[in-house]
Amino acid sequence: MAASGGAYGFVDDGTLVVENGLIVWAGPRTALPSSFEGGTVHDVGGRCITPGFVDPHTHAVYAGSRSNEFELRLRGATYADIARAGGGILATVRATRAASDGELAGASLPRVAALRANGVTTLEIKSGYGLDRETELRMLRVARSLGPAANVRVRTTYLGLHALDPAWSDADAYVDFVCADVLPAVAAERLADAVDAFCESIAFTTEQTARFFEGARALGLAVKLHADQLTDCGGAELAARCGAQSADHLERTSEDGVRELADAGTVAVLLPGAFYYLRESVAPPVAALRAHGVPIALGTDCNPGTSPLVSPLLAMNFACTLFGLTPEEALCGFTRNAARALGLHGEIGTLEAGRKADFVIWDVEHPSALVATIGTNPGAAVVFGGRA
Ligand code: NIG
Ligand code: FE
Repeated sequence: MAASGGAYGFVDDGTLVVENGLIVWAGPRTALPSSFEGGTVHDVGGRCITPGFVDPHTHAVYAGSRSNEFELRLRGATYADIARAGGGILATVRATRAASDGELAGASLPRVAALRANGVTTLEIKSGYGLDRETELRMLRVARSLGPAANVRVRTTYLGLHALDPAWSDADAYVDFVCADVLPAVAAERLADAVDAFCESIAFTTEQTARFFEGARALGLAVKLHADQLTDCGGAELAARCGAQSADHLERTSEDGVRELADAGTVAVLLPGAFYYLRESVAPPVAALRAHGVPIALGTDCNPGTSPLVSPLLAMNFACTLFGLTPEEALCGFTRNAARALGLHGEIGTLEAGRKADFVIWDVEHPSALVATIGTNPGAAVVFGGRA
C-alpha cells in the first residue's frame, strides 16, 4: 500500500480505515489503533493500493475523429501545417458544434469511463472546441454531467482562448468578446473552476492571454496555461506572473521560466502523450524543474488531435522513457502533484487521514510495476468515495 513512508511512500502490510467516504486512518497494520478494530474488513490479499489517479489535463469532451491527421503527419505534415489549413482544432470545433448535447455526452462518456477503468477518480475537462458562446457553455455543461454519469470527480476548465473562431477576423476583437460575453456567462452559471488558454505562435499572444486571465481572476476563477509547447513564447513566465495553478506542456520553457514557476508555486503539468504522438524531439526541462523545486504533475491530455490517450499507466511509462522521470516521480505526477495542479491537495491525491477514500487496488506487489509495464491494466478495483 502506498501511503507516507519511504520510497514511493510504500507501506508494506498497510491498512486503510474508511468511514463515510473518507480515509480516517492509514499506516502499517501493526500500528492500527484498537479504537478502529471491529468494522468490516476487506483483505486485498497482498495487492497494492495507490491513491486514485488524478488527471489534471484533458480535453475529453468532443465529437468527431481526427485519425486522418495522424496519417497526414506520418506523411510529413506538421501539427502547425494542419492547423493553418483549417484542420486540427477547427476540425473538432466543426464536429462538436454539429453534435447535440446528448451526442456530445454519448461520445465523451466512454473516454471518461476508460480513464476511470485505468485508475482515474478525478479528472479535469476543458472546453475549447466550441469557440462560440453557446457551444463553449454546452461543452462545460456536458463535462459537468459526466462526473455523476461515470462516477468520478470532474473539474471543469473554460479553455476560452484555444483557436480563433473563423467567424472573427481580428484576434484582439475576439479576445474582447470572450472577456466581455463568454467569461461572465461561464462564471454566472458556475460552469468552470478555472480558465485556460493556448499561448503559442499559432494561437494567442502573451498580451491577449494576460488580458483574458485578468478578467478570469477578477471573477474568482483559477488560471492554467498551455505554455511553450511548440515555441518558447514566454508562456511559463506569463503563467507565473498571473499566479497560475499550473503551466502545462513546457517543452520549450527556458530556465528563467522555470525559476519563475518555482517562485510563483505554479505546478508543471507535463504531457508525454502529446510529445509521443506528435513525435516531438525537444523534451521539457525536467532537470531544471527538479533543481528549482517545481512540482511535476502528469496528464493524459486526452484529446482527438495530439494525444488520443486514456491511460495514465501508459503516460507514466512515456514520462520515464521520453522525459527521464523516475517511476516514483511519475506516480507522484498522477497523484499528489496532480491534485495540487487542480488546487485539490487538501482533499485527494494521497492516502492519509482526512483525504477522500479514492483509491485503486492493483494486482501488483509494488507500485513501480504500474510504470514499468506497457499496455497492461492490472487494476483490480477502483474505489471512489469509499465505494467500489
Ligand atoms: O493540449 N494545444 C492545444 N490543445 C491541445 C490540442 C488540441 C487539439 O489539437 O485538438 C493540446 O495538445
Ligand atoms: Fe491540452
